[in-house]
Amino acid sequence: MAITKTICFANNKGGSGKSTTCANVGYALSTLGKKVLLIDGDMQMNLTLSFFDDERSLEFAKSDLNLYRGITEQKDLSDFIQHTDYKGLDLIPSSTLMSSIEFDLFTKWQREFILKKGLERIKATGKYDYILIDAPPTLGCWVMNIMCASDHLVIPVEASPWGLFGIANMFEFYEQIRQVAPTLNLLGIAVTKASERKNYFKQTIDTLSSLENVRLFSSIIRVDSMVEWSQDVSKPVMAYKKSSRAAQEYMELAKEIETYVNR
Ligand SMILES: Nc1ncnc2c1ncn2[C@@H]1O[C@H](COP(=O)(O)OP(=O)(O)OP(=O)(O)O)[C@@H](O)[C@H]1O
Ligand SMILES: [Mg+2]
Repeated sequence: MAITKTICFANNKGGSGKSTTCANVGYALSTLGKKVLLIDGDMQMNLTLSFFDDERSLEFAKSDLNLYRGITEQKDLSDFIQHTDYKGLDLIPSSTLMSSIEFDLFTKWQREFILKKGLERIKATGKYDYILIDAPPTLGCWVMNIMCASDHLVIPVEASPWGLFGIANMFEFYEQIRQVAPTLNLLGIAVTKASERKNYFKQTIDTLSSLENVRLFSSIIRVDSMVEWSQDVSKPVMAYKKSSRAAQEYMELAKEIETYVNR
């Protein structure tokens, strides 16, 4: 029986690589023999689409088998788990209905802990080594739920001129969450979509390295068109092209995350 570790991928900056990192780190951990449950917490359904084609994903969105139903009806989320095509890798799909989640949470008692409660049974079974949660690019009560349900937070940051804009808000939000979830640990920052030829790559690394008490993962994810090709066919990049640079970089990042989580 495993002690399940829950890791969320969050950053209020859109397009910073949260969903891609969550999907590929999750897949990499499963190939290392770990049992992984992915949770798609975003109305855009990008994590769901990383493993299921458009048709299947829309079926989930329209059915009762998605996270939105589970959360709004405050259910045990065990019943919402779907198997992916890959061994040891399961997923709770999202729905476009998640767009109204802030409104739905508003009237609920202890509204920041609904996801945590929904995961209690799953964690108690010890079936999974890791639960990885993909957050939307917002900082509200729903992302609070995601962070309160997590042991660790990974912040993917895009190495771009705007990638760092707003990160102070993210840190401030994290500090606020720690008042209600004091055990939440900021595991580190993962630099994504990096292009070493561009000036701002160095600038991003320098700025992030200078932050006190924040770990910068040494595995950096560079821009690789294989990522988009793999997403086009709803596969993790390692399953699409194992020899690609992104596949190797995501494996390195997964190993690094594993090391720090179990330290
Ligand atoms: N290493 C990479 N190389 C090339 N493209 C990438 C890479 N990582 C992510 N992308 C692309 O960048 C875009 C944003 O990535 P992703 O969706 O993972 O970010 P996000 O933070 O989840 O976005 P959102 O805030 O909208 O949820 C996507 O189109 C994705 O295909
Ligand atoms: Mg996303």
